[in-house]
Amino acid sequence: MWRSLQGDLPADQKIAEEKELLARIDRSRLPLHIAIIMDGNGRWAQRRGLPRTFGHRAGVESLREIVKLCVELKIKYLTVYAFSTENWKRPREEVNTLMSLLIEYLQKEIDELCANNIRINPIGRLEDLPASAQEAVRMAREKSRQNKGLTLNVALNYGSRSELAAAVRAIAKRVRDGGLNPADIDEKVISDHLYTAGQPDPDLLIRPSGDYRVSNFLLWQLAYTEFWFTPVLWPDFRRVHLLQAIVDFQSRERRFGGLL
Ligand code: FPP
Repeated sequence: MWRSLQGDLPADQKIAEEKELLARIDRSRLPLHIAIIMDGNGRWAQRRGLPRTFGHRAGVESLREIVKLCVELKIKYLTVYAFSTENWKRPREEVNTLMSLLIEYLQKEIDELCANNIRINPIGRLEDLPASAQEAVRMAREKSRQNKGLTLNVALNYGSRSELAAAVRAIAKRVRDGGLNPADIDEKVISDHLYTAGQPDPDLLIRPSGDYRVSNFLLWQLAYTEFWFTPVLWPDFRRVHLLQAIVDFQSRERRFGGLL
């Protein structure tokens, strides 16, 4: 196990570990697409005797750091699970805080995100978000539309089953209207009707905070994805953890169901 999973290390040791990991990474075999379930915000706050919303605020800091590292490493796609179709069941105050954090993040950071050539691509049932969140999402998408560096898919009011149901409806409509023959519905047609149409499937899925579930996230797209779990809670997730995940990913043999 990596040392940084075993508690907080002094800053100089963290820098040394980061350098060591960076040196081990093969830049020619980086994951093209990384997906992250940003889990553990509530527990992080509760362990400190703070309201859960403090954990979400701290989670935004982790997101900032990880986006920055993805840009440095020239990762092409990063998909983060920010709000699920099930998260509406949480107390109203928590939902409101999450929406406010999203709006604040997009409004405050959009210029810097654009300066780093990042394209913001919100995915999910965006039409059901509060009007102020829809406006922030629209603004960020428009302002960053031309950017060609990292594509940051922000999953908002996202549920994979809802995404698949919407894809089936759209495909059925094309068949009904005579534009598509049922015999021509193959895997590509389905992929092309998902929010991630045109993007490669994730190579690496990271789930912090010790749970081993996919939680209705990218069910179709994760078919051959490598999973990496860590007990570290998302607000404590730092550059070293992403580097550990990538080093581990690069040590695996991906066979995609075939033989080597
Ligand atoms: C899961 O932790 C996390 C969420 C439901 C929200 C994730 C949101 C952020 C990191 C910040 C806002 C996002 C953006 C894009 C600015 P949890 O609350 O379920 O944690 P727990 O399992 O410990 O309760």
